[in-house]
Amino acid sequence: MSVRSEIIGCGSYLPERILTNDELAEDLDTSDEWIYSRTGIKQRHIVADGELTSDLAFKAASNAVEHADVDAANIDLVILATATPDKTFPATATKVQSMLGLKNGAAFDVQAVCSGFIYGLSIADNFIKTGQAKTAIVIGAETFTKLVDWEDRSTCVLFGDGAGAVVLRAFEDTQAADPSDKHSNKHRGILSTHLHSDGNHVELLQANGGPASTGTVGKVEMEGREVFRHAVQNLSSIVDEALEANNLNYEDVDWLVPHQANKRIIDSTAKKLKMPTDRVVVTVDKHANTSAASIPLALDVAVKDGRIQRGDLVLMEAMGSGFTWGAALVGW
Ligand code: ACO
Repeated sequence: MSVRSEIIGCGSYLPERILTNDELAEDLDTSDEWIYSRTGIKQRHIVADGELTSDLAFKAASNAVEHADVDAANIDLVILATATPDKTFPATATKVQSMLGLKNGAAFDVQAVCSGFIYGLSIADNFIKTGQAKTAIVIGAETFTKLVDWEDRSTCVLFGDGAGAVVLRAFEDTQAADPSDKHSNKHRGILSTHLHSDGNHVELLQANGGPASTGTVGKVEMEGREVFRHAVQNLSSIVDEALEANNLNYEDVDWLVPHQANKRIIDSTAKKLKMPTDRVVVTVDKHANTSAASIPLALDVAVKDGRIQRGDLVLMEAMGSGFTWGAALVGW
């Protein structure tokens, strides 16, 4: 008998204000045609003045707690994946913990940029497997539009704001696995998570400030083509790694929920995985790249519109600045 974790609910939140490509093109030398054909993005949501990452995170987390139908008081771990915290310190997760009315357990931020949600999920899964937590909430929340240089057309068109969250709970894996039964424990809960990083490429994608260097927050700068190349390579290998670790192949996966950076990266990865496009969840057209929030946002959309059903096998993958990359195979 072993303790494992399962996702019992999800939620998300998007700021009200929508900024379309056409609106962007009013002040910037760009066009809807250029942005859509290169990235698949049509629009993004933008936070209101005074709206903080913690506000987005709290709304997504509350939504997930309600969907999971758990007593929030039982949550003993709050992990917030973000590269856009409210303040340099303390961790924004502690503020969200208090907004949720929680006093028990631990709350901390995870910084792995676009891979942050997968990193957070992996940490929460390990806390639960080792008995250090029983009910965890993992949130990805970003106000990335605060970090972009609105005069740099090669980066500012790519990002948006938003938040998504999942609630994880421990369960005792007592049932003998029946490989022919999709609903048996073989496909229940988090099957495995896989994390990687390679700091040799920090300068290909970064916010060029920080408290210890410039004393400013900095702005996003990126070598787009190089990032694209590494993303396709790393995402293909992490997907193979996750499937091999579980003796599964692409046909066993019901849904691919990729990080939503760019439709062309998603298509290339899905093609390598031989995953039909109708089993790939795509929200980049409406949300743009919301960094750590993109996977839980996409997951929430596909769960709430009924595509992802109990018993489905879901593969999530992400790659971000650092570089960091990771995957999680989850029985829904
Ligand atoms: N509108 C119009 N023209 C533009 C724009 C714009 N918004 N941005 C750049 N251009 C121009 C450039 O100035 C350049 O013009 P030039 O040929 O006269 O010099 C031309 O378009 C081509 O520029 P490239 O940067 O070579 O364009 P590319 O085809 O590589 O597309 C893009 C750029 C979309 C950023 C692409 O490299 C990409 O998708 N990279 C992946 C980056 C990514 O998704 N990062 C997100 C974070 S990492 C992650 O989440 C995985």
